[in-house]
Amino acid sequence: MVSIGTLSGEGLRDAMVDRLAADHQAKGLVLRPEVETAMRTVPRELFTPGLPLEEAYENTAVVTKRLPSGESLSSVSAPFLIAEMLGQAADALGGLTGRSVLEIGSGGYNASLLRELVGAAGSVTTVDIDPDVIDRASKCLAAAGYDDVTVLRADAEHPVEPGRRYDLIIVTVGAWDVPPAWRDQLTEGGVLVVPLRTFGMTRSWALRREGDRLVSQSHRLCGFVSMQGDGASEIRHLDIADGVHLRLDEGQHIDPAAIEGLLDLPRAEAWAGVALPPRTNLSDLNLWLATRLREGLVVLTAQSEAIEAGTVAPSWQYGTPATLQDGTLAYRSKLSWTDRVFDLGSYAHGPQAEVAAGRMVEHMRAWLDAGNPAPVLTVLPAHAPDGDLPNGMVLDKRHSRLVLTFTPNKKGNAA
Ligand SMILES: C[S@@+](CC[C@H](N)C(=O)[O-])C[C@H]1O[C@@H](n2cnc3c(N)ncnc32)[C@H](O)[C@@H]1O
Repeated sequence: MVSIGTLSGEGLRDAMVDRLAADHQAKGLVLRPEVETAMRTVPRELFTPGLPLEEAYENTAVVTKRLPSGESLSSVSAPFLIAEMLGQAADALGGLTGRSVLEIGSGGYNASLLRELVGAAGSVTTVDIDPDVIDRASKCLAAAGYDDVTVLRADAEHPVEPGRRYDLIIVTVGAWDVPPAWRDQLTEGGVLVVPLRTFGMTRSWALRREGDRLVSQSHRLCGFVSMQGDGASEIRHLDIADGVHLRLDEGQHIDPAAIEGLLDLPRAEAWAGVALPPRTNLSDLNLWLATRLREGLVVLTAQSEAIEAGTVAPSWQYGTPATLQDGTLAYRSKLSWTDRVFDLGSYAHGPQAEVAAGRMVEHMRAWLDAGNPAPVLTVLPAHAPDGDLPNGMVLDKRHSRLVLTFTPNKKGNAA
């Protein structure tokens, strides 16, 4: 058996890709062969200089620039996320060979993978707002021998190479909106892959251009550093207890006095009363809840210490749908396991705790009754009249109107 200390970059890379393939399989996804080949080819260590070789092949993002506050501004993205997003792009376009690609947010690693994937007949442009990142990415690309990637510094909220169209725009920074430039720079049928925040929750959406609208082909759970420049949006975290926060989206305001001590009040619980087998896919339940609980919707996040201390028990510590209404906080709780099956529940604190927990659980049952539907996202220009929108939940942003549509899988009314 080979110990990790004796492995070369190539051996570590192969081990990383083996783990990625297994991770895809566990999520019910397929690692496309050409993505796998590209990831076995590009030496990630050349894009993380200064990092020990083993760490270059861990399945995590490597932060390359932070604000003095500690907030990450730039990173070399996590391999699993890169693999999933490249897979989304390739699936939506039916392959990447010969495609022209714009990558928004540089680091060099993903651009090299794209370069491998598009081949000699394709092209890759990568753009970043930050001159330090551009400088670093250019050097890394040169060191790795990828001298045919165009590297530009610009705020990619706006057209990057005016007059050019791309088959694929892959955004590697967290966005709150879809500016017109992203749609307009796509060829008809071209694909935008973008980590987009809707209802406070980020998913990587693969959206195909159909005239003036973009329609989703797939989505994946993800997290990214936030967009800077003209497309920046505000996210604030409001403390509700030690290590527990409400994540507030652009334009959301909550009086801190209204939530003080709320989690110290007695807890009410409600359960859906279902018995679901392990590996039931719940990834779309949170978006369903967010669209159903729009009034008073907030997203709750918690640090591990607060969970261990029993202050909260959220379904997911990095972002659980919650409501704050009538002085009452309700959130989707962790699962309740009995033998080999689990139930879905809600915890609530405040004067209307029982009602609020019960309401949330009703929406969970409705999602199950509708056959666990996945949403389709349609992005239209901000001026699109109501009559042009598909059925669904509408979310108006600065530049676009987003519509999330859930179509029931077996029964129920899931518009
Ligand atoms: C996660 S990093 C990119 C990772 C990279 N694609 C890789 O190969 O791993 C996100 C980058 O987006 C950049 N960025 C943020 N806002 C931007 C904007 N408006 N236009 C272009 N780049 C932006 C940041 O400077 C940061 O370097």
